Amino acid sequence: MALIEVRELSKVFNQPIKGPGLIGAIKHLFTQDYREKRAVDNINFSINEGEAVAYVGPNGAGKSTTIKMLSGILTPTSGGISVNGLDPHKDRIQNARQIGAVFGQRTQLWQDIPVTESLSLIKDIYDIPVDIFKQRLDKLIELLGMSDFLQLTARKLSLGQRMRADLAAALLHEPRIVYLDEPTIGLDIAVKQQVRNFVKQINKEKEATIILTTHDLGDIEELCTRLIMIDKGKIIFDGPLDSVVEKYSTERVLHFQVKESIVSTLSSIIHLPPSCRFEEKSSTHFSISFDKSKISASEIVTSILAVTDIIDFKLDEPKIESVIKRVYEGEIIFS
Ligand SMILES: Nc1ncnc2c1ncn2[C@@H]1O[C@H](COP(=O)(O)OP(=O)(O)O)[C@@H](O)[C@H]1O
Ligand SMILES: [Mg+2]
Repeated sequence: MALIEVRELSKVFNQPIKGPGLIGAIKHLFTQDYREKRAVDNINFSINEGEAVAYVGPNGAGKSTTIKMLSGILTPTSGGISVNGLDPHKDRIQNARQIGAVFGQRTQLWQDIPVTESLSLIKDIYDIPVDIFKQRLDKLIELLGMSDFLQLTARKLSLGQRMRADLAAALLHEPRIVYLDEPTIGLDIAVKQQVRNFVKQINKEKEATIILTTHDLGDIEELCTRLIMIDKGKIIFDGPLDSVVEKYSTERVLHFQVKESIVSTLSSIIHLPPSCRFEEKSSTHFSISFDKSKISASEIVTSILAVTDIIDFKLDEPKIESVIKRVYEGEIIFS
């Protein structure tokens, strides 16, 4: 059995149907209308020990809801989760010892006490022996560059400092399983890299299993080997990152049909960059493979039109690419 098994998992929220403003809120008091929101809709996956999985999808897709169910914070509406044989919600206490979770959007640190004291409280919560605690803390301080702000209260930390402190707090007990929900959101490049290097290290050296949600393609490429994509509560892709990256390439193919039988001479007349590949199919049909980051389909069509009439043309797009594009248009950033 895999380390994490998710079977036919769903989460339905009852969202109040409210009109806008105060009037809407008051009306709602009387009507109490709710709408069912299927945030996670019958999903299945298994994750093995040591895997690093990117769990991605647009805002509102159901990522955080899944992570909250996996970590035992939320109870599923239906379906089952087994994390190393435990039910995360029913066996919350036991499960907490084997997992660490960081939610980028909100801190889990005590706001008004210095970071170092928060960490010391966590040592007590998890019964970490003092010498082991010191050893781990030194390592965390070094890896995450935390020495400058250990004495500050969480409230006073910058976003980047807070995220690093949160990571340290969540991983002090060296959990086998680490859930990271947007751990690099809003971070500058240097801190982002520090966080990535740290996550990489615990995955490689400690063989921690990582489930990471992010909108940052750099996080995915650097840290993960497997991608699970969720959209509107449903899993739309689950496979090796390679298979997506391969298809995520910018290669496109245009297929043409032209009037005269001039295909054999066309390649010498039209002016296309060397990155384009011309392929003769028949005397009236040909195709051009190109890199869409170097030239657009319309530029190619224009240069064909300059030398001959086009009867028909069709653009081939790799399927998964169009899926990713449709899902992530403007969502994933490169850095
Ligand atoms: N506590 C809640 N009550 C009602 N609806 C919720 C709650 N939490 C999340 N949702 C809804 O569930 C859907 C999925 O949310 P979420 O899992 O946070 O998405 P993501 O993390 O992928 O952006 C959204 O439509 C969101 O509005
Ligand atoms: Mg979220």
